Amino acid sequence: MRNALNALTDELRRLKACGVDRVAVSDDGLKALRRSAGRQPSAGVPEPAPEPAAAPSSGAPPEVVLPEGDKSVRWAALRQRVLDDPVCRSKVRPGKKVVLGVGSLDAAIMFVGEAPGGEEEVQGEPFVGPAGQLLNRMIGGMGLSRADVYIGNILNWRPDLPTGPDGVQTGNRPPTESEMAYCLPFLRAQVEIVNPRLLVALGATAAKGLLGTRSFGALSEVRGRWHDLGGRPLMVTYHPSYVLRNPTNRTKRLIWEDLLKVMERANLAVSEKQRRFFL
Ligand code: URA
Repeated sequence: MRNALNALTDELRRLKACGVDRVAVSDDGLKALRRSAGRQPSAGVPEPAPEPAAAPSSGAPPEVVLPEGDKSVRWAALRQRVLDDPVCRSKVRPGKKVVLGVGSLDAAIMFVGEAPGGEEEVQGEPFVGPAGQLLNRMIGGMGLSRADVYIGNILNWRPDLPTGPDGVQTGNRPPTESEMAYCLPFLRAQVEIVNPRLLVALGATAAKGLLGTRSFGALSEVRGRWHDLGGRPLMVTYHPSYVLRNPTNRTKRLIWEDLLKVMERANLAVSEKQRRFFL
């Protein structure tokens, strides 16, 4: 097997020297390579579904090797790895930041969102804009604070859109599949380090990133239910931005019911007042 891998890397070097910077690998070929390299997807997060041929690529997903050490040593190394990552760096505009998850490395609950927005890329922290204010209220309603949980994103940069004449990007777009596939190893590494008891996917992009891009059509198929993420429970609920755009009593009640399930599963005490709570 070693000889075959050496032959393969020699051939890839030869192609690179000829100016080829991309090669197509079939699903079966990828599986065989992973087997030969002894690599398994970590933390039970499945590999994303293959990209449709036309979608833009962010490059091959990075290999993340965490050092030995306690959680803070491993997280600090991961943070540096992500901040230094050439693809992540190339995706942020000058003066803006690559964003990694934040929170308690001993959190029982990990929230996973979609991607940084305008405020997040300025501060370099997930969920600090309007959606973050609502997420903080949701966490507060659970009797916790932001520092008690871990908050990450599928993507580590703000997905780009054309800027206005002032050079400022106003809107946001969901990440492409190749962008998601690129950043997933960084999210898996965070799950591995924090080792939360359960995860909460906020919205369809987070759910697709974690469950697989072809795992469902409409969010309603998976929302409000427990899913298995390599032995770890995963609750799918609405993204806070959706609630901000649709602030109906029904949406607020549904998201809160999902969070009550999360509290129960995480063995948090649920008071009568919390049961009746409305966001
Ligand atoms: N929305 C997200 O999904 N993530 C953030 O960090 C901010 C807004």
